[in-house]
Amino acid sequence: MIPLSIPEIRGNEWKYVKDCIDTGWVSSVGSYVDLFEIKFAEYVKAKKAVVTMNGTAAIQLALVTLGVGEGDEVIVPSLTFISPVNAIKYVGATPVFVDVCRDTYVMDAEKIEELITPKTKAILPVHIYGHPADMDMIMDIARRHNLFVIEDATEALGSEYKGGMVGTVGHIGCYSFNGNKLITTGAGGMLVSNNEEYADRAKFLSTQTKVVLENKAFYHPEVGYNFRMPNLLAAFGVAQLENIEEFLKVKRSNAKYYNKQLNEVKGITIPVEKEWVKNCFWLYSVVVEDEYGIARDELIIRLKEKGIESRPFFMPIHDMPPYKMCKRGNLDVTNDLYNKGINLPSSVGLTHEDINLVSEVIKELGKGK
Ligand SMILES: Cc1ncc(COP(=O)(O)O)c(C=O)c1O
Repeated sequence: MIPLSIPEIRGNEWKYVKDCIDTGWVSSVGSYVDLFEIKFAEYVKAKKAVVTMNGTAAIQLALVTLGVGEGDEVIVPSLTFISPVNAIKYVGATPVFVDVCRDTYVMDAEKIEELITPKTKAILPVHIYGHPADMDMIMDIARRHNLFVIEDATEALGSEYKGGMVGTVGHIGCYSFNGNKLITTGAGGMLVSNNEEYADRAKFLSTQTKVVLENKAFYHPEVGYNFRMPNLLAAFGVAQLENIEEFLKVKRSNAKYYNKQLNEVKGITIPVEKEWVKNCFWLYSVVVEDEYGIARDELIIRLKEKGIESRPFFMPIHDMPPYKMCKRGNLDVTNDLYNKGINLPSSVGLTHEDINLVSEVIKELGKGK
C-alpha cells in the first residue's frame, strides 16, 4: 500500500526519548519541553512558542487567551478538519462559515466582510493542505473591524507568506504534531505569537494558572487547563524539528514531480502556488473536474485497487449536525471542492517510483471508461 501520509522517523528520536527515560524526566516539566518551545519559535521566527498536548488544544487556548467566548462569533471556513470549529464551540462562541478560493482551497478573504456583525470577535483562517490564505487582506479587515486573527497553521508548517512563516502573521498561530503532519510527536501541538503578552498568558492558562507560593503551595487565580505536553514527546519533537528542512525539501520536490506528471491530464487541476507564498504541499491535492474520465469517488476506489491510499477533501462542517444552524455565506466553492477534491499520497518517504505509479493510474483512468 502507498499510504497517504505517514511519519518519517530517521533522526535522534530514540536518543532523546531514551535520555528522558534514563533521567526520569518523562512528565510535563523537563529540558526538552523548554528546548522544543525555544527551537520551534526560532524556526518559525516567532517571539515565543507554547507547547500543547495537541493542535486542537492550541486553538482552544488561542481563543481563550484572546478573550473569545460566550456570545462571540468567529469567522472560519467550512472546508476544514473539524478541530478549529469545535474549538470555537468549546469556548462558547459560534462559528460563522465563509467560503474558500477555488484555486488555493483556503478562506476567501473577499467574502469575509459581508459576514461581520457587532458580535464578530475573530477570524480563523485554516491553511488547509499547505497553501496559505491571503493574510494581508485578512489582517487589513481585522484591523479595520478591530478583530483578532488566529491562524490554524496545523497543515501548513513550513509554508511561507511573503517571506514570513505561516502561523506568525496573525495575532496567534497554531500547529499540530499529529502523526500525519510534517513533523510529529505522536500527538502534540504548538501555539506561537509575536506578542509576548499573549504567549505568556497562553502558557499560564495551559498550566492550570499555577502560581507557586513561597511555602511551595500552589495557588490558582483563574480557571486554567492542563494542556501540557510531556517531556518524552517534546524530546521526540526536538529530534523531528532537526530534520524539518530536509522534510520540506522532499515535499516540495515531490509536488513538483507530481505536477510534471499530472499537468497534462485532461480534467485534473493541479495545485497552485501563488507568487507571494511558498507552499509546503503537506498533502498534494488535485481537483477531479467534470471533464475527467470518472468521478472523484470512483477514482478513490480505483486507486485503492492498485494499493494507493487517497482521501476526498474535507466534508464541509456546515452540514454536520452540531453546526447545521450556524450562520454562513454562500458556500458553493466549498461544496464543489468537497465533491471533486482528492488528496494523493504525500509522505516524506514517497519515492518518484511511487509518484509514477499513482500518476500512471490517474492518466490511464482519465482516458475514460
Ligand atoms: C486543519 C486542522 N486543524 C486542527 C487540527 C488539530 O490537530 P490535532 O489533531 O493535533 O488536535 C488538525 C489535524 O489534526 C487539522 O488538520
